[in-house]
Amino acid sequence: MTPILDVRDLEKTFGSLVAARDINVSVPAHQTVGVIGANGAGKTTFINMITGHLRPTKGSIRFEGRDITGKPSREIVRLGISRSFQVAQIFPTLTVFENMCIAAAIARRKSGLLGNILTPVTSPAATSEAEAAIDLFQIARYRDVTANALPQGVRKLLDIGMAVAGSPRLLLLDEPTSGISIEEKFDLMNVVMSALKSRKITVLFVEHDMEIVAKFADRVLAFYDGTVIADGTAHETLDNPRVQELISGVRLKAASHA
Ligand SMILES: Nc1ncnc2c1ncn2[C@@H]1O[C@H](COP(=O)(O)OP(=O)(O)OP(=O)(O)O)[C@@H](O)[C@H]1O
Ligand SMILES: [Mg+2]
Repeated sequence: MTPILDVRDLEKTFGSLVAARDINVSVPAHQTVGVIGANGAGKTTFINMITGHLRPTKGSIRFEGRDITGKPSREIVRLGISRSFQVAQIFPTLTVFENMCIAAAIARRKSGLLGNILTPVTSPAATSEAEAAIDLFQIARYRDVTANALPQGVRKLLDIGMAVAGSPRLLLLDEPTSGISIEEKFDLMNVVMSALKSRKITVLFVEHDMEIVAKFADRVLAFYDGTVIADGTAHETLDNPRVQELISGVRLKAASHA
């Protein structure tokens, strides 16, 4: 079967700095892929190239068999790839419901100016998708609270819910648990992952907490110095001696389960 995502020989340089190189990854539909690596290893650069926020210097990216290399992010979203950022991208003075409606309306927008005018934020389709996403992410009790008054965990759920409101088939999450306390991380990821599973969304998530990676990822890619140094099941990657040597926190995780 055609992989949902197929990345070949991907490279990104910024002047003389090589941020990503020789990346070859093929992801089948419905897989949950964890992405680990030290600060500056190239994880966000990798995601940014898939979503069209950065143009690769070399290589190709295929989504469901279609070449999307270097396409603008607007077009890539429309094709079915959505994302969250390291810092949540929400409208702070609007309510959870209003934020969700905007995300749903934008996702339903057809290309071109006429499409924008014809898709109001409060269209029945957008509002019902917004209500469904609010329920799916279990934040109904915050429906009418403005985003700037939300607890951090709920803000994260809103941010990811907004990315899902567009019904993507591939979702890229850049550090979904950053800034969340250890006690709250597992609950947050349980809600997120069961929501994504119920919608059959393939997910790549960047994560620094190895306990979270081991629990939620079917497969783990380890990045080091811009490239993938290990790619296997969570056990295979986290038990890999090179990964344990080069990525802090991995050895600790392995030791705790020895
Ligand atoms: N727009 C840019 N211009 C110049 N250099 C950049 C740019 N974006 C990233 N880099 C550099 O590319 C390298 C990879 O950065 P990237 O943000 O992908 O790392 P990361 O693995 O996501 O790290 P973190 O865990 O800290 O988020 C770093 O050396 C970074 O400084
Ligand atoms: Mg990053």
